[in-house]
This record gives sequence, C-alpha cells and structure tokens, in this order.
Amino acid sequence: MRLYIDSANLTQIERINEYYPISGVTTNPSILVKEKKHYTQSLQEIRKIIGEEKELFIQVIADSASEIVEEAEYFQELIPGKNIIKIPVTQEGIKAIKQLTSKNIPTLATTIYTPFQALIAANAGAKYVAPYVNRIDDLSGDGIRVVSDIIHLFTIHKISTEVLAASFKNVNQVYQACLSGAHSVTVAPEIIEKLIAFPATQRDVKVFQSQWNEAYGNEIGKE
Ligand code: E4P
Repeated sequence: MRLYIDSANLTQIERINEYYPISGVTTNPSILVKEKKHYTQSLQEIRKIIGEEKELFIQVIADSASEIVEEAEYFQELIPGKNIIKIPVTQEGIKAIKQLTSKNIPTLATTIYTPFQALIAANAGAKYVAPYVNRIDDLSGDGIRVVSDIIHLFTIHKISTEVLAASFKNVNQVYQACLSGAHSVTVAPEIIEKLIAFPATQRDVKVFQSQWNEAYGNEIGKE
C-alpha cells in the first residue's frame, strides 16, 4: 500500500517527505496553477526534493492523441527521474496510452468515474488508473464502490494495472479506499497530516513525560 502526496506546494512536500514514507508526488493542472509559478519550475523543484527514484505524476493538457504523446515526451525530456504521465480517459487519451505504452513511457489514466473507464485504460496499457473518490461522491455516486469494483475486475481478469485512488476530502474516504484494496492513494497534505493525528495520543505522551520528569528529571543519560 503506497502513499503519494497530491500537491505541488514545496513547503508541504518537503515537510511530509521528511517523516512520511511517501512513494512520490501527484500533480494536475489545478494543483500546479495554484502555486503561481511556471510549471517547469514547480516540477523541477519537486523532483529535487523527492529525488529521481520516487514517482512524479505529470498531467497532459492536449486533446488529440498525437499532441498528448508529444507533451508526454516533452515532460520526459524536461524532468529527470521516474515520471508517470497522467492522461484523461477520453478516446484520444486511450489512444495515447496505447502509443506511450509501446514507447515504454508509463501512464496513469486519470479522471476515472466508472469501472469501465478503468478496464479499458488498463487494456490499453495504463500502469495506473486513478478513480476520483470524492468527485464521484459529489455526484451522488459511491466513490469507494467504484474503487472496489475496479479492484474486483482487475483481480478476476488478472490485470496487472494498479489502482491509485485519488480525490479525497476526508480521512475516512482514504481509509475506506485502503480497505477496499487500492494499491495506493494520493492524498492532499492537509489530509495526510490528519492520518496519524489523534488527541488521545498527544495526551498520553504528555502524561508519560510529566510522570517521568517528576521522578527522574527531564534528561535521559545526562544525570
Ligand atoms: C490526482 O492527482 C487527482 O488529480 C486529484 O486527486 C484530484 O483531486 P480533487 O478532486 O481534490 O481535485
């Protein structure tokens, strides 16, 4: 089960990368634009923080398959390291996934709302599919059900494409995606911070410290 940071904010990526065992960073056009810098600068700086071994997901914006392939090749050239090209599941997108797979450029099929979209993207050669849990919930659908149906389809048809569940707005959605068998999740920094936060844990730590300090002083090995 792998965890990715869904952000292009350098301060947050740096902080989380220091203590969480993350596998990489996912971006999309909205995430990059939010940082108010050129995308080249953001992507290069993210790569510097996470190193070349962790995966960096970069989304294309073109509509036609040929332009999508061009953009993918441009990003591969621009940013060193393990990049995964995110491609929306349109007909042209699927065509591009097939072409990029034959060129050994790994892809993630994004903006997934239905299990069928995931199945077709997987058959085209996508390394990952990204079902949009919260956006599906917002349409009165069931995002977690979509995740578990995709997992079920991939299992019974012995498909090696992995599910990277995305678009979360709370900790419970992330937890349910993990329980449903998603191979990985990408989560915004504000929600990642909440994954281990629990008031009783902080309280217990304080009690242990004050009991210890009262009995032994507050420095271990320096008495
Ligand atoms: C993944 O990279 C997706 O683009 C992202 O999780 C979408 O999240 P949102 O629905 O919060 O915009």
